[in-house]
Amino acid sequence: MRLVLLGPPGAGKGTQAKRLQDHYGIAQISTGDMLRAEVAAGSPIGREAKAVMEAGQLVSDDIIIRMLGQRVEQPDAGKGFILDGFPRTVPQAEALDRLLAEKRMKLDAVVELAVDDAALVERIAGRFTCAKCGTGYHDTFKPTAVAGVCDVCGSHEFTRRADDNRETVTARLEAYHHQTAPILPHYEAQGLLRRVDGMADIDEVTRQVEQVLSRQPTAI
Ligand code: AP5
Repeated sequence: MRLVLLGPPGAGKGTQAKRLQDHYGIAQISTGDMLRAEVAAGSPIGREAKAVMEAGQLVSDDIIIRMLGQRVEQPDAGKGFILDGFPRTVPQAEALDRLLAEKRMKLDAVVELAVDDAALVERIAGRFTCAKCGTGYHDTFKPTAVAGVCDVCGSHEFTRRADDNRETVTARLEAYHHQTAPILPHYEAQGLLRRVDGMADIDEVTRQVEQVLSRQPTAI
């Protein structure tokens, strides 16, 4: 199965992509995670992307398309993948169409998680991640079972993203509405777009996404 998860910052793409990865045994490919790894490594891509990400703007299409092209060649993407945070512009969506056509592959669905802007700021402001295993949490909506201890690995260390502050979130939302939302008609015209109510709680969103996918005939 090959999917695109679309939605504004904080819509729950990463949260749902991890669950789909476990459920269907396919790779989660997050361009945001890949860029953060490049920043942490201090690579040339990371040095170029850091300031752009911290300003809440989009990294150049050239860099992203090259990075994604290499990532889908990895063996774990062979069985299928969930694209989380890609494509984000019309040129990225067109590049993905070309890449899949070259490989004689098709997308099964593009799932849009629809969430109001006001809810997104609260979601992003409360987000934190285990520094050791990467499990994501939220101060209110998904706290750890024991305060200060990761449910999965028991670590006591957590991190918050550098771009998770109110000013940057406003810029990220603007980028979403101006540069990313225009790709929705691109997928609607291909008959691939499925909309899910991302305002529901996390389990309910998962249920809705899985329901939508269970109705999909699997593409080539
Ligand atoms: P990226 O890492 O992709 O960030 P984003 O799109 O801004 O999305 P987030 O990761 O913030 O949110 P999410 O939708 O995954 O929500 P999550 O599940 O964590 O991109 C970061 C930056 O990298 C970009 O700004 C850009 O600069 C660059 N970049 C990346 N890809 C690029 C591309 N293709 N082209 C150009 N530049 C690119 O959930 C958020 C919180 O809410 C969590 O705490 C979670 O627990 C909670 N939550 C989730 N679902 C629910 C729910 N249903 N109810 C209540 N709480 C919930």
